[in-house]
Amino acid sequence: MEQTFLMVKPDGVQRNLIGEIVGRLENKGYQLVGAKLMTIPTELAEQHYGEHKERPFFGELVEFITSGPVFAMVWEGENVISTSRLMMGATNPKESAPGTVRGDFAVTVGKNIIHGSDSLESAEREIALFFNKEELVAYAKDA
Ligand code: CMP
Repeated sequence: MEQTFLMVKPDGVQRNLIGEIVGRLENKGYQLVGAKLMTIPTELAEQHYGEHKERPFFGELVEFITSGPVFAMVWEGENVISTSRLMMGATNPKESAPGTVRGDFAVTVGKNIIHGSDSLESAEREIALFFNKEELVAYAKDA
C-alpha cells in the first residue's frame, strides 16, 4: 500500500493544529502508521530540504524547520501521496484553496503549516530519513 511522509511544521505545532490535521486525514480514510514529535537537527533539515540547497531561501527554510518541534508522520492508503497534497493545498497559501490545510490556516509561503512528499521517490526518501522500519506499524486487515 502507498505511503507518504507528512510533517506538521513548527508553526502548525505552536498553533495546536496537530489534532486538526490528523483528524482530516483520518476522516478521509487514511491510516497513520508512524508518528513522532521531534525537534529536527540542522543536519537532518539540510538533508530533507537538499533539493532546495541553491535557493535563496534555503537558510531561512532550515532555520525555520529547526526552530521548534515538528510532528513527523507516515500515512498509508490508496493514492495517499497525491491526495494528501490536494488536502494540503498549494505551497503558497496565496494560491491554496479554502478547504485545504494551507487555504484554511496559512498566510505566508515560509510558514505554511505542513509538508508532504511530492512523489513516490520523495516519499521513500523522506520516510527513510525520519523513521526506522521498526517505528512503523501495520494495521489489522479487517480493522
Ligand atoms: P515544503 O513543502 O515544506 O517544501 C519546501 C518549502 O520551501 C515549502 O514548503 C515552503 O514552505 C518553502 N518555501 C518555498 N518558497 C519559499 C520562499 N520564497 N521563501 C521562504 N520559504 C519558501
